[in-house]
Amino acid sequence: MNPSPPSQRKTRGPRRWRAPRGWTTLSACLLLSVPVVALGVPDKVRIPIVRDHGAGDPPDAALFSHWDHDTFTCVSCHPSTFPQRKVGFTHDDMNQGRFCGSCHDGRTAFGPKDKGVECETCHVPTKKREIDEDDLWK
Ligand code: HEC
Ligand code: HEC
Ligand code: HEC
Repeated sequence: MNPSPPSQRKTRGPRRWRAPRGWTTLSACLLLSVPVVALGVPDKVRIPIVRDHGAGDPPDAALFSHWDHDTFTCVSCHPSTFPQRKVGFTHDDMNQGRFCGSCHDGRTAFGPKDKGVECETCHVPTKKREIDEDDLWK
């Protein structure tokens, strides 16, 4: 038998660190965003196609808009979910909760299979104007 007394410090410790953690995230975001924004972040990014779209599938690659996601901070997605460069992935990856699927799973945000969601919401046709002068975050 080892009669070591229960430590109260250990159970209280983590709670005290919650506020400092928030500040760390905030300053990390500021540090991360300032130099990159200065280089110009594109609003719209076509996700590279890594698996062919078949006949009957939407022909255009999915389009991601930074501006449509401006309620998030950079560190919500970078570098945990996406590197800050073009990288390809598939619906199988998303169905496993990765990439867009970390949010677009039908719970946090609409999922590809939700009722009423059109494929073209993400697979935006190329004919729609993609690039304009507002496309760079300044
Ligand atoms: C939440 C955004 C989103 C929605 C909604 C969505 N897709 Fe995708 N889809 C993607 C992304 C991102 C890719 C990867 C890039 C690419 O190939 O376009 C992709 C890829 C694909 C591919 C390539 C093969 C594969 O398995 O990944 C097909 C086919 C496809 N989508 C079909 C559809 C169809 C059909 C719908 C509507 C039922 C749909 N998508 C709705 C985001 C979406
Ligand atoms: C909601 C998620 C999300 C947020 C928030 C986000 N990004 Fe991105 N970012 C992406 C995605 C998705 C891509 C494209 C990745 C790919 O092609 O697979 C991307 C690509 C980029 C790229 C590369 C673009 C290119 O064409 O090579 C840069 C630079 C970038 N992001 C910077 C930022 C900065 C700076 C912020 C904050 C101001 C930010 N991002 C916020 C999701 C996000
Ligand atoms: C960090 C979470 C997150 C990630 C990652 C993310 N999204 Fe979103 N996205 C959202 C939320 C939340 C909304 C708003 C949902 C709503 O209005 O129901 C949204 C909205 C959208 C919209 C609709 C924009 C509009 O206003 O019309 C599209 C299209 C979209 N996302 C595509 C994507 C694609 C493609 C990816 C991956 C390349 C992606 N998103 C990754 C959270 C995310």
